Amino acid sequence: MNTACYTPESTIIAGVNVHLHDTGDVNEDVKGLVSSAEDYTTVGNPFVESPRMKCREVSVDYSGKRAVFGVSLDIARNEVIAMIGPSGCGKSTFLRCLNRMNDTIPGCTVSGSITLDGMDIYDRKVDVVPLRAMVGMVFQKPNPFPKSIYDNIAYGPRIHGLAGSRSELDALVEDSLRKAGLWDEVKDQLDKPGTMLSGGQQQRLCIARTIAVSPEVILMDEPCSALDPIATARVEELIEELRDNYSIVIVTHSMQQAARVSQRTAYFHMGWLVEVGETDQIFTNPRHKLTENYITGRFG
Ligand SMILES: Nc1ncnc2c1ncn2[C@@H]1O[C@H](COP(=O)(O)OP(=O)(O)OP(=O)(O)O)[C@@H](O)[C@H]1O
Ligand SMILES: [Mg+2]
Repeated sequence: MNTACYTPESTIIAGVNVHLHDTGDVNEDVKGLVSSAEDYTTVGNPFVESPRMKCREVSVDYSGKRAVFGVSLDIARNEVIAMIGPSGCGKSTFLRCLNRMNDTIPGCTVSGSITLDGMDIYDRKVDVVPLRAMVGMVFQKPNPFPKSIYDNIAYGPRIHGLAGSRSELDALVEDSLRKAGLWDEVKDQLDKPGTMLSGGQQQRLCIARTIAVSPEVILMDEPCSALDPIATARVEELIEELRDNYSIVIVTHSMQQAARVSQRTAYFHMGWLVEVGETDQIFTNPRHKLTENYITGRFG
């Protein structure tokens, strides 16, 4: 894995010196719809004090075709950060870099550097199984294992050896289901298949399964897009509660959802991180024309 030479003020992307604006107005060059990829710059400050994860110059290619261009971004502790942008702009691709899920896609190569608590997650010595427990993922479509509700939660702690006895495992299952706001609904049917739950309950089961292995970061790729408004509201409440203990990175097509659940928002466009900032600022006072066009519904 290449670790690109990097300074906070400026960075080299594809041979073009690109400035990361953290104060002041948007560069005149990037006002309006820019014509070439080299003109995309990150507006806003992508860095935080004492980040949980640091992404520097992350690029992703699928069989030589670039999908993500030199993204530098910190993931803070106890924050929800939303990733928004038009379909195909690289949100899922970038998200999958954070727990090396792209490793499973043939022809996909990742460059740049990503650290979790200072550890290079792409280091050859890193085992992806514990990494994906530390950086868990919740998908668009709830995907419970074809197992009982209990075993859906117990599976991870068993393979990671997190519970020494059956009573410890029982306690961990209960605790995870409580944290996911599902315990009261399922406590009398723990031996029933996870697949018999409603879609919203299945998604909370998947969140409980992720929590059960003590993650530090939870990645969510459109976690509510298959849910009705009531189930969505329940998952959004849960995301707010989970922020006390975890960092959450959520990809969403719903700008209302991004505004409701996140403290920071990152706007992607054609593989570039175009703007990042406090969520309120992004939605009320976007600094980049592309962000403004997207949030006002002019494209996307
Ligand atoms: N497995 C893959 N193989 C080849 N190209 C891919 C693969 N996955 C994504 N891409 C390409 O990478 C680019 C970014 O796709 P990605 O799925 O990351 O976008 P996205 O922002 O998540 O879109 P959406 O909002 O529709 O989910 C697209 O051009 C897409 O066609
Ligand atoms: Mg996607």
